[in-house]
Amino acid sequence: MATQAPPLSPLLLLLVPLLLPLTNAATFNVVNKCSYTVWAAAVPGGGQQLNQGQSWTLNVPAATSPGRLWARTNCSFDGSGNGHCQTGDCGGVLACTAYGSPPNTLAEYSLNQFNNLDLYDISLVDGFNVPMDFGPTSRGGCDDVRCAADVNGQCPGVLQAPGGCNNPCTVFKTDEYCCNSGSCSPTDYSRYFKGLCPDAYSYPKDDATSTFTCAAGSNYQVVFCP
Ligand SMILES: *[C@@H]1O[C@H](CO)[C@@H](O)[C@H](O)[C@H]1NC(C)=O
Repeated sequence: MATQAPPLSPLLLLLVPLLLPLTNAATFNVVNKCSYTVWAAAVPGGGQQLNQGQSWTLNVPAATSPGRLWARTNCSFDGSGNGHCQTGDCGGVLACTAYGSPPNTLAEYSLNQFNNLDLYDISLVDGFNVPMDFGPTSRGGCDDVRCAADVNGQCPGVLQAPGGCNNPCTVFKTDEYCCNSGSCSPTDYSRYFKGLCPDAYSYPKDDATSTFTCAAGSNYQVVFCP
């Protein structure tokens, strides 16, 4: 019995150009312009010691969502990559597979999302340790996000932590600050962060003024102490 190959569906042909961008991996260039050493951390990606002026190139798989990068400070690791950091520690290993401990300034992203866009932001929802700039390597009309104010120097006393400025959820653990119920509003503490870094997330529901988009397939740069 002869079978006939089904005709190539016109719908499939229409979908091919939409699916192609999903094959785009992204390159992240991470630069330490701080006057001190940081231990860059990325999930996915691991970790890398960066002395002043050093950089780290990271390849991230297509459609990674969510992904985050941050800086760790005052770390000490042994030859097998086990140790501890004062801020941003990810379970005591150099090559992170888990997120860091607050306080840590976050670069967050989701690649290849709705409408072929990447989403990216800087978040202070886990506090602040190191000033940061985060954006696409070639702008093409996309924004650069920067949080470079002296957040640690002016940190409210109750939020002060060794090497950084804590988010109020870490300190008070209440729903008002942690937003576990999924509904919350700005607080005096979130207004402190927003005042210094207007483009960064200052509390969990701060999406409207803190989420940025760029065409999928973009590459990114993270600069510590821009
Ligand atoms: C590292 O720790 C020392 C001693 O606590 C402190 O003075 C210094 O500011 C810390 N460095 C960073 C980059 O946080």
